[in-house]
Amino acid sequence: MAAADERRVMCVGLCCVDIVSIVQSFPVEDSDQRSLDYYWQRGGNASNSSSVLSMLGCPVEFMGTFVKSPEYGFLAKDFKAFNISTDNCAVYEEGSVKCPVAIVIVNQQTGSRTIMAALNNIAELQYEDFEKVSLQNYKWIHFEGRNTVENLTQMIQCIQRYNDSVSAEANVRISLELEKTRRSDLIPLMSEVDFVFVSKEFAAAQGYSNKEEAVSGMVHKCKQGGTVICAWGEDGAAAKSTSGDLKTSPIFPPKTLVDTLGAGDTFNGATIFALSRDIPLGDAVTFGCKIAGAKCGLVGYRGLQGLQSML
Ligand code: ADP
Ligand code: FRU
Repeated sequence: MAAADERRVMCVGLCCVDIVSIVQSFPVEDSDQRSLDYYWQRGGNASNSSSVLSMLGCPVEFMGTFVKSPEYGFLAKDFKAFNISTDNCAVYEEGSVKCPVAIVIVNQQTGSRTIMAALNNIAELQYEDFEKVSLQNYKWIHFEGRNTVENLTQMIQCIQRYNDSVSAEANVRISLELEKTRRSDLIPLMSEVDFVFVSKEFAAAQGYSNKEEAVSGMVHKCKQGGTVICAWGEDGAAAKSTSGDLKTSPIFPPKTLVDTLGAGDTFNGATIFALSRDIPLGDAVTFGCKIAGAKCGLVGYRGLQGLQSML
């Protein structure tokens, strides 16, 4: 086993290209309008959370799929520049599968981000690829929760079998993100993992109208000792474990709101960073909000480097 502090966090999920256009005001349909700037950025929830973890100084790996398309070089180079390992990713030839790409409009007036993701015909991660991973190298594995229930169940069970075979301190902690409202089929997996990150959209679709109600209501679906964490946009975040009190954090607004693309992924990455260092739940969620707030004042994730000092 790698020394405890050298073990990595792995984020499993999507990596796509975000083609971001910064606009002065949100475009009018069928108009011909100039944008202020445009850039390509590596995106996808797990990919973004990996960037955040790396900028905070955590050894990190992304696991997902790539397609050898013209975009591949850009993505691989950027992972390298962020010091994120992609050693276990599956790489497919272009053909029946395509590189996922999202067109994103960032409105400079409000910082809002509008995402149009083309995620058809993308290669999904196979259990056979995950099975080959040497689990002793990881202290935490986070699942974005975009694969099928069967696939996620297999991967989670693989970690559980490993955990049963090693001492408690060598265990790999598991987290799962429930983000898209259409993925309520993932709810039964809440009882299989240690931490569940629920988005406000997901919680609202389950009938909850605020972050406190969401975590207090959903924690009953967790296993004993499990925790639910819910970020609620400008209302901050809340968390509750089966055995503890409700914890909440307000937001930490930046001086100027610049870009909210990936605020949720940043919150998840920063909160995992703190929890993986055994920071108490309330402080971890507050740290998540501080780093997510800082991100909203920046373009991209690079500027988060060194902000672990805020912990
Ligand atoms: P998503 O990007 O997935 O929609 P949220 O909107 O829930 O995620 O935001 C995640 C976290 O980012 C929030 O809990 C909050 O801490 C932070 N955040 C979001 N919007 C702002 C904002 N306008 N100012 C400061 N922090 C923000
Ligand atoms: C932000 C994000 C973007 C990507 C989209 C995919 O949370 O991960 O980087 O385009 O969501 O759903």
